[in-house]
Amino acid sequence: MMHPRPTAALVAAIAVVTASLAGCAGEPPKARTPAAPVASPTTIVTAPAGAPAPNPPAGTRLATFTTADFSGPSVCASCHANMRDESGTDVSVPDDWRATMMANAARDPVWQAKVSSEIARNPELTAVIEEKCTTCHMPMAETQAVAFGQPVTALGDGFLDPAHELHAAAIDGVSCTLCHQVSDTNLGTRDGFSGHYVVDTSTEAPNRIIHGPYEQPFARPMQNMSGYTPAFGAHMLTAEHCATCHNLYTPYVDAAGTVLGEFPEQTPYTEWANSRYSAEATSCQECHMPLADGGVVISNRPGRLAPREPFFQHVLVGGNSLMLGILATWGGDMEAGADAAALEEKAALTADQVAGATADLALESLVLADGTLEADLRVSTLTGHKFPTSFPSRRAWLHVTVTDSAGTIVFESGARSPDGAIAGNAADEDPATFEPHHDVITSPDQVQIWEPIMGNSDGDVTYTLLRAASYLKDNRLLPEGADKPALPADIAVAGAAAGDSDFVGGGDVVTYRVEVGDGVAPFTLSAEVLYEPLSYRFVADLLADGTALTERFGGYWGAADRTPLQVAVAEGTT
Ligand code: HEC
Ligand code: HEC
Ligand code: HEC
Ligand code: HEC
Ligand code: HEC
Repeated sequence: MMHPRPTAALVAAIAVVTASLAGCAGEPPKARTPAAPVASPTTIVTAPAGAPAPNPPAGTRLATFTTADFSGPSVCASCHANMRDESGTDVSVPDDWRATMMANAARDPVWQAKVSSEIARNPELTAVIEEKCTTCHMPMAETQAVAFGQPVTALGDGFLDPAHELHAAAIDGVSCTLCHQVSDTNLGTRDGFSGHYVVDTSTEAPNRIIHGPYEQPFARPMQNMSGYTPAFGAHMLTAEHCATCHNLYTPYVDAAGTVLGEFPEQTPYTEWANSRYSAEATSCQECHMPLADGGVVISNRPGRLAPREPFFQHVLVGGNSLMLGILATWGGDMEAGADAAALEEKAALTADQVAGATADLALESLVLADGTLEADLRVSTLTGHKFPTSFPSRRAWLHVTVTDSAGTIVFESGARSPDGAIAGNAADEDPATFEPHHDVITSPDQVQIWEPIMGNSDGDVTYTLLRAASYLKDNRLLPEGADKPALPADIAVAGAAAGDSDFVGGGDVVTYRVEVGDGVAPFTLSAEVLYEPLSYRFVADLLADGTALTERFGGYWGAADRTPLQVAVAEGTT
């Protein structure tokens, strides 16, 4: 294709990081910092001599820490293990949970990198940033430190330092005793969003409550052995439980560092609340914690417990197979609490969900007249919220090729180059610009990308979370049932999609009108919707900071398999 390449400087920025990995194929990139993490109780190294060791290795253990108000998952796994449903499928909660992105929310190297970048760009706000970012990614350590009246810091000698007394609790991410101790206070309200969940830190063991979905649990064994009392909590079944961390407002500042307001950075709960899924009472859990087959005995102690039904599995996958792949390859460097095989399996489940349950694509018409091929492609969403979802680095796009009878490509839009830039995407060529939403595509330098683009308080494109004041573009596909003109301001469509009459709740229709020149009929149009969690420009912007943690992430990213996920395909010939 003849599209301009991204600027040399940006390619160089990425090349520098990838170059450091050249010549060590098969080996993990050097984690430049923090200095190679000290072996922790969550990892054991059992590399057989001679064979390349999986990293993290088989047999990686669950964390065993205890703090005043939280415990590691190994405590729970002593009873909540070997759980099988009626078809014999293993539905053990700790095994399903341990490889999720939530279990890895603190180890996530792009999260750590972004925290360091936000601090580098807003040093006067270091304390605010560290407290904010740890609230959901290191929620046990953050909550515990606040309860103790201790400072909340992540970098340097903060929670990430293996010597910190809350390190093990921090690195265990969104774990059992966090989610199950969230009380029903404030849930689903603006006060309760942004990680403002309430955990009761005043009740002592063994009376601390673990909320669950069942009435009248047999409480004594768990109380005696774990120091927590299981009890029914209706809020565990609701979307509002998830919303406390998944609806996120971030404070933003102007160029001088003055806080001006709050920006709706992630809003899947509000999107869900304005979709048909909320109207039909299909909660987050129903899609993200799929139902087991029939009843399940939920504890292996004491004997002869009756099975519980319904049982929701802690599968908890989204769209981020990229990061799960990074963790499956180098997670040992990050003290992963799951082994490589479990992380690979989770990445595969993620890819399956993206390919099978995220969106459909249909070629609704394909007509050739006077040397012009015209096609209508309809994408229809299956998600309970916008797609792409949540974190504003996600993007999905249409890759379309037209070939003639000889197989020669006569038109292509949305090809992705090996370095990750999308051909024709203005943002991948020039950081100050972005690709507009298209209703009709007539040239190969146009591409339909469904994505959010953040703008700062001066109206310029920004990738800095703390500078994001509004969306310059938000044409993420709307869930079914969303009424575009009536959406609340926080989730409103922004940019040209607002005025595109076939961009509506449930999907979008894109028309391709292309000259086929000297090509010989019949012509075949092939289309695919592709998805990736980290856009090229987001990563290029992050790596430009050159902090130790952004460099480390760049090493992993550069060496990772970054093939985008295929969401849906359609093809036709005329
Ligand atoms: C209210 C809870 C909450 C807070 C506070 C929060 N995050 Fe997150 N963060 C999330 C959730 C939920 C996701 C996952 C969303 C998704 O997968 O799209 C996420 C994802 C991310 C990702 C993408 C991770 C990946 O692997 O692609 C980055 C980077 C990130 N957060 C950075 C930050 C930074 C920096 C801060 C502090 C300024 C912060 N987060 C504060 C909830 C939070
Ligand atoms: C992200 C929050 C979250 C985390 C982390 C989490 N759970 Fe759950 N758990 C839930 C929710 C929500 C339900 C209820 C689901 C429903 O019934 O809709 C649940 C249900 C359960 C149940 C009842 C059986 C079932 O699955 O329906 C058990 C037992 C349980 N969790 C144990 C654990 C253990 C042990 C861990 C850690 C290894 C853990 N949970 C981690 C949110 C969480
Ligand atoms: C000594 C074994 C044991 C340990 C250790 C244990 N549990 Fe339980 N847990 C049980 C039993 C028994 C039940 C009740 C089973 C029933 O009534 O069907 C239960 C019930 C639960 C429920 C469901 C409560 C409800 O009402 O829906 C959750 C959630 C739960 N446990 C989470 C945890 C977590 C989190 C940990 C770790 C901090 C943990 N358990 C540790 C044995 C244990
Ligand atoms: C304590 C805060 C917290 C709670 C409560 C919570 N989450 Fe999360 N969740 C997170 C964070 C943080 C991440 C992002 C981890 C990352 O990407 O680094 C995340 C990521 C996810 C992902 C993304 C996985 C992927 O592949 O990218 C899904 C799906 C998810 N959560 C579902 C849920 C559901 C469903 C609930 C309610 C049952 C829930 N979460 C409750 C904090 C939370
Ligand atoms: C109708 C099914 C459905 C419902 C309901 C649903 N989701 Fe999802 N969700 C999906 C699918 C499919 C994906 C994977 C594709 C994607 O990234 O959107 C997903 C992805 C996600 C992600 C991961 C995004 C990423 O960047 O990896 C998060 C976080 C998430 N959902 C949170 C939620 C929350 C919170 C709720 C409830 C308020 C919810 N979901 C309700 C189907 C659903």
